Amino acid sequence: MNMEINKMAGALLGSLLGVMGLGMFSDVLYAPDHMKKAGYDLPAGEAAGGKAEAAKPAGEPFPVLLAKADAKKGESLVKPCAACHDFTKPGVSKVGPPLYGVVGRAKAHVAGFAYSDPMKAKGGDWSFDELNKFIADPKKDIPGTKMAFAGEKDDAKRADIVAYLRTLSDSPLPLPAADAKPAEGAKPADGAKAAEHK
Ligand code: HEC
Repeated sequence: MNMEINKMAGALLGSLLGVMGLGMFSDVLYAPDHMKKAGYDLPAGEAAGGKAEAAKPAGEPFPVLLAKADAKKGESLVKPCAACHDFTKPGVSKVGPPLYGVVGRAKAHVAGFAYSDPMKAKGGDWSFDELNKFIADPKKDIPGTKMAFAGEKDDAKRADIVAYLRTLSDSPLPLPAADAKPAEGAKPADGAKAAEHK
């Protein structure tokens, strides 16, 4: 009799644990899908064309955005990335490779991480500019990449993210020159603001 109750309690406990485990597991499994949806909502500008242009100032060159970028904001903007990436030093591989020191690092360079063939074939280092392009739209930048992330379409947010990635280094690379010719509509004061940096 007592044995029966014990067995039942055990079974109940077991299945509860199982359900909890499944929940955690599926969170991990399905996280990319949530993000995909969130990502597709963002690029209002792309399909809407002219409409979005009225709302947003004309795009500024990435180095200018980067000079104004806020690494602190970037640190919170990489929360979705943290589902797959470790940002600590030296870091461990999760679904994606660890990203400490990624700025200026050769692409597909973390030993032991199984990069996709297209990523391995891409070649070169992760410059500010290439990170910007990749994070904007991974699948477009490197077709066949196994990074299941829709992309961050907001230029300023991407600059914040890259500014944060830059800080993940023992000796952060100097920022690219921000005096690239300002986009039409950008005031010269922007350059000055960029220089004072927070
Ligand atoms: C769903 C999981 C996932 C998310 C979310 C994700 N990544 Fe990735 N990331 C990967 C995988 C997997 C790779 C390896 C891609 C390949 O080999 O094709 C990768 C590769 C990279 C690389 C190249 C690293 C190297 O060593 O060459 C960078 C940089 C990167 N991710 C940045 C980001 C940033 C920044 C974010 C957030 C804005 C992000 N990732 C979000 C899974 C993810």
